[in-house]
Amino acid sequence: MNTLDLIEGETAIAKSLGELNGQAQHCKRCDLYKHATQTVFGEGPEQADVILVGEQPGDREDILGRPFVGPAGAILNASLIMAGIDRDRCYITNTVKHFKFTQRGKRRLHSKPNAGEIQRCSWWLRSEIKLIAPKIIVALGGTAAAHLRGKTVRITKDRGMIFHPEKLPPVLVTIHPSYILRIRDRTAANAERMKFVQDLNQIKQVLT
Ligand code: URA
Repeated sequence: MNTLDLIEGETAIAKSLGELNGQAQHCKRCDLYKHATQTVFGEGPEQADVILVGEQPGDREDILGRPFVGPAGAILNASLIMAGIDRDRCYITNTVKHFKFTQRGKRRLHSKPNAGEIQRCSWWLRSEIKLIAPKIIVALGGTAAAHLRGKTVRITKDRGMIFHPEKLPPVLVTIHPSYILRIRDRTAANAERMKFVQDLNQIKQVLT
């Protein structure tokens, strides 16, 4: 069963993304708001055909209050351009809307959200999907993919595939752009980036 189905009927009551975002700024559905700077809500047009879903905001996103504006965002932007997709026509959001981190000296290191945090935050993602009603959702990485699909996802095996979860638009699974950042070898990183662009290219088939 899809994890999103478990809370069928449970979405925020909001007529627009702006109203929804306003509500999310006060979210205390889990404890992550206590240490994060702010809620990082999704951004993009309400009529978007595509929603891109990451895991959670990073350090930069937490400070600026916008999704995918740090190093992973730079990879995403460049890859979207290479795939001929206009970022401004996509709605970009995260599975979890607060930055979860562990403090190491002055650095704040990314820490994975747990199942409870993901499930509680699903309220906002569901509400975004409901308001936008996109033609396709792109799950960037394992956290988004597993949550949207409702099953464990093996990114290496399932990437590039489009799933049809019940009561959701089709979900294209691909890697998280930060994966490319972690590859040390430049040739391997470039090859991975080309595969990411190929995955993103599939969005166009759904849109045309
Ligand atoms: N990684 C994510 O998953 N989302 C962001 O917004 C930034 C980095």
